[in-house]
Amino acid sequence: MTQTGKLILRSLNGEVLPRPPFWLMRQAGRYLPEYRALRAKAGSFLDLCYNPDFAVEVTLQPIRRFGMDAAILFSDILVIPHALGQPLTFEEGRGPILEALDPDDDLRSLRLENLHRHLAPVYRTVSDLSAKLPAETALIGFAGAPWTVASYMIEGGSSRDYAKAKNWMYRRPDLFKRLIDLLIEATSQYLSAQIEAGAEIVQLFDSWAGALDHAAMLDWSLQPCRAIAAQVKAKHPQVPVIVFPRGVGAGYLDFAQAGFMQGLGLDTGVPPDWARGALPGSFALQGNLDPQILVAGGMAMRRSVQSLLTGLNTGPYIFNLGHGIVPETPVEHVAELAELIRGWQAPA
Ligand code: CP3
Repeated sequence: MTQTGKLILRSLNGEVLPRPPFWLMRQAGRYLPEYRALRAKAGSFLDLCYNPDFAVEVTLQPIRRFGMDAAILFSDILVIPHALGQPLTFEEGRGPILEALDPDDDLRSLRLENLHRHLAPVYRTVSDLSAKLPAETALIGFAGAPWTVASYMIEGGSSRDYAKAKNWMYRRPDLFKRLIDLLIEATSQYLSAQIEAGAEIVQLFDSWAGALDHAAMLDWSLQPCRAIAAQVKAKHPQVPVIVFPRGVGAGYLDFAQAGFMQGLGLDTGVPPDWARGALPGSFALQGNLDPQILVAGGMAMRRSVQSLLTGLNTGPYIFNLGHGIVPETPVEHVAELAELIRGWQAPA
């Protein structure tokens, strides 16, 4: 039976397609001149996230140029701590800066009750997008997973070693668990509201899951992701969930076995053939071209794309990068990548 519908929803539903759907993590961003122009006009990065007209436009920019099979809402994972009341700014060249949580404050500065009021502009962006996207393009909503978001909240920004966050985890386990539980609740509500506004798929980014040892990964990456998926599914059973537990290595086996997701995002380091053989389950694999290969382009890119398509498109598959696009990426390389995937035919 030939099914119809958006390609990425078909892959997430377990179908193997002649050519896989594709989108690219961080597909909207500084590598696009039209993004840089709008970003300059908006003033700050957060103004871009909280202004629905700007956020819609930025989301659509890569779709117009390259025709990805899915658009991802333009926002950031750190709007959740911001909505809970934690001061946040983005400084040019420094990344995000938060007022680090004080363990002695006992999470008193964080409040769930303003969540939806604060995030209303994001929901508005989602609903405007679902009216404006081409009929064949799916809309992906997203959030950061609790561990990754908690690491920014505790460290006050990006971190090299997560020393403060791990210190909370091991020396203040009750406090750390309350923070993770608060994030599970906020994130589940946030993703459900995105779905109610028109998101057709949601992705959880656990970008720093690979910094945890195996036991901590199970407790603080896998379990919270599973809890959020369960809470979202209880309200919206038909909406696929993609999880991206970046860097977990052999932990991918645990995620596959847990099986609560419809899509599993592979980071750059995961061998495609190993993933196809060792991670069976009723979910699509997504990934995992090295973003630096997209910067390099040329033969290196053509070879890697061919080997990914050969290795991964034998099961349900969504082509993507193994992490986000970097600002140095030449636009022509993204255009060529889109052509390579659209023109793909499996060897007879
Ligand atoms: O994918 C998309 O196109 C949608 C938008 C999106 C952004 N951030 C926009 C953004 C998404 C899905 C994210 C997720 C995100 N944000 C993650 C998880 C994914 C990953 O890359 O691991 C993380 C860890 C963050 C936190 C964050 N936001 C950092 C550390 C930084 C600074 C680093 C950087 O790239 O500048 C940001 C800023 C940010 N988020 C930018 C964009 C386009 C650049 C801001 C700018 O324009 O100055």
